[in-house]
Amino acid sequence: MSSTQNKGLEAIADTQMTDISKEFFFEGMLLPVNVYLRINPGSYLIIGKKGDKASFAQLHSYNNPNVNAYVYHSDKPTLIQYVQDLTTKVLHQKNVPEAVKVKFISGLAEEGLDSLAKSGFTSVSQLQKVSELIVQMAQTQAPFDEIFKVMVDLPASEAKHGMTSCMICMLLCEEMQVKLPAAQEKIAMACLLHDVGLKHLPKSIFEKPRHLWSADEMMAFEQHPIVGVEMLRDIKDIPSDVLLMISEHHENSLGTGFPKRIRDVKISPLGKILILGNYFSNLLFSATGKPYTPDEAIQYIEDIMGQPFNKQAFIGLKNIVNKKYLADKKA
Ligand SMILES: [Fe+2]
Ligand SMILES: [Fe+2]
Repeated sequence: MSSTQNKGLEAIADTQMTDISKEFFFEGMLLPVNVYLRINPGSYLIIGKKGDKASFAQLHSYNNPNVNAYVYHSDKPTLIQYVQDLTTKVLHQKNVPEAVKVKFISGLAEEGLDSLAKSGFTSVSQLQKVSELIVQMAQTQAPFDEIFKVMVDLPASEAKHGMTSCMICMLLCEEMQVKLPAAQEKIAMACLLHDVGLKHLPKSIFEKPRHLWSADEMMAFEQHPIVGVEMLRDIKDIPSDVLLMISEHHENSLGTGFPKRIRDVKISPLGKILILGNYFSNLLFSATGKPYTPDEAIQYIEDIMGQPFNKQAFIGLKNIVNKKYLADKKA
């Protein structure tokens, strides 16, 4: 519980609060939750109350880069959903300002960060680092506008899956020493767009478990990587290796994936990373079954699936999970 002190400061336990990117707020938007600045540990200044219009830009403390905006943990999903809905509405209008597009990506990144942090995959600071990198890369990519048009039309769950896959892959890149910005940009773009081909599948497919799919439904699903490439092919500035990665995202090293059933040697180097990042994201955030913890997901891949992914990528993934485990143990 909070108690009011002088100067408008409130004493609130830090464990109840979570920081949120300042870029996330639109000036003038109606606030769906209370917003605070963290002045000192355990000491917060309320700068906007639920129902007020956001008016932060003139606040001296708000513009201090060392001071973060905070909301209650329990309020963060409400805020993210609200801003996402607002942004999506604006994004469907003509002549969308660049800043609004950036907010859309930042919102997705916040949501991805939150989900991955809750899953216990890696530390919040690591996730913050990749989240900032992704937002920055999205803005500098040549087909920025086109990517946005595609992403805005995706169902919210797909856009979020693209983002969590992207964050996992960025961490894998770091672990596997894939440091070239051009390579990281390509893999990020492929991650964000990899499932666009699902858009053309009938919704009824996703309303039942996979073992109840007919042969035709299974065949249609297995074509979604290729359908996705067809949808994106005409967008100028999407590099051909991004399209290749998208076409490969359900293949695996043993040649038991789809649609081409190619083996590791035939899969592109960056595709090997996307394949694992996508699969791992699906295990952590399964829409149809019980989500796995990172440890359970690793064990499932090894013991049940017989580790069908690229060896180096899988070692990288295990390293990320083990580092988090050791850091938690130390703490
Ligand atoms: Fe897919
Ligand atoms: Fe996917």
